[in-house]
Amino acid sequence: MSIEKKKVRMNKQRKATAKSVRIDPDIVLTVQDLTKSYTIGNTTITALNKVNLTIKKGEFIAIVGPSGSGKTTLINCLGALDFPDSGKIVYNVDGKGMGLDIMLMTNKQHKKMRLRKIGLIFQFYNLFPILTAFENVELPMVIDKIDPKLREEKVKSLLSRIGLEERMEHLPTQMSGGEQQRVTIARALVNDPLIILADEPTGELDTETTTNIMKIFLDLKKAGESILMVTHNVRIAEVADRIITLTDGKFTGEKKGGKSIEDIYN
Ligand SMILES: Nc1ncnc2c1ncn2[C@@H]1O[C@H](COP(=O)(O)OP(=O)(O)OP(=O)(O)O)[C@@H](O)[C@H]1O
Ligand SMILES: [Mg+2]
Repeated sequence: MSIEKKKVRMNKQRKATAKSVRIDPDIVLTVQDLTKSYTIGNTTITALNKVNLTIKKGEFIAIVGPSGSGKTTLINCLGALDFPDSGKIVYNVDGKGMGLDIMLMTNKQHKKMRLRKIGLIFQFYNLFPILTAFENVELPMVIDKIDPKLREEKVKSLLSRIGLEERMEHLPTQMSGGEQQRVTIARALVNDPLIILADEPTGELDTETTTNIMKIFLDLKKAGESILMVTHNVRIAEVADRIITLTDGKFTGEKKGGKSIEDIYN
């Protein structure tokens, strides 16, 4: 089915059924039978094959798997950046148990979700090169028309929280990779999202910088943030509460994590 046809079909489906459901208030997000395939020419690749996942508030989950196993596809679907073929992705949108399926939302609702409810972090930082650290973090609030005074307070407090108060006026090219990634973490937190979705957040970074980023994630978890991180680095994944293995689009294993950074490197 072409993307256009799929969009028309999904829009019809959304109009018919975009209703809220009650879910456990302690859950941030629940995913049921999520399936996504890509067709190019005569070849169809099933990137996600009936994936099921529930993330509790304050949980830090790592998803590991080899290249091509579907990790980015999962982040893109959960982040309302891509359309799954079938399944459910229900977010606790008000934090009190009002569940809304993003598969049934309109494009406008998707935009709102991305702006206010989901904090996205990617491997290649995705900062605007002509904007300073301050302005990059501020941007989602500018788009969301937040009062300038509130914006300034929030950006300053977030940049200090991740140790970048001295870099506010720096452009991305004037910062190290680790510093740029910290700016994207601050930007992801700017609208107090329900969850942080991180795709290979340390993929480009050396061991020491990776450790620092993981420490920030652990601090965020301690402060009650919910985090889903996908990575092929099985070692650093062990700091998460749960480590789930994705193989050929399917969850094939799960183990407990909760290791400290020190445990990992000893
Ligand atoms: N836009 C697309 N069009 C066609 N096929 C795609 C597209 N995006 C991903 N795929 C295919 O879907 C499968 C899953 O890709 P995905 O990017 O999710 O893997 P990944 O686990 O993130 O890999 P990596 O570790 O290399 O980032 C791969 O076989 C990939 O080739
Ligand atoms: Mg990927």
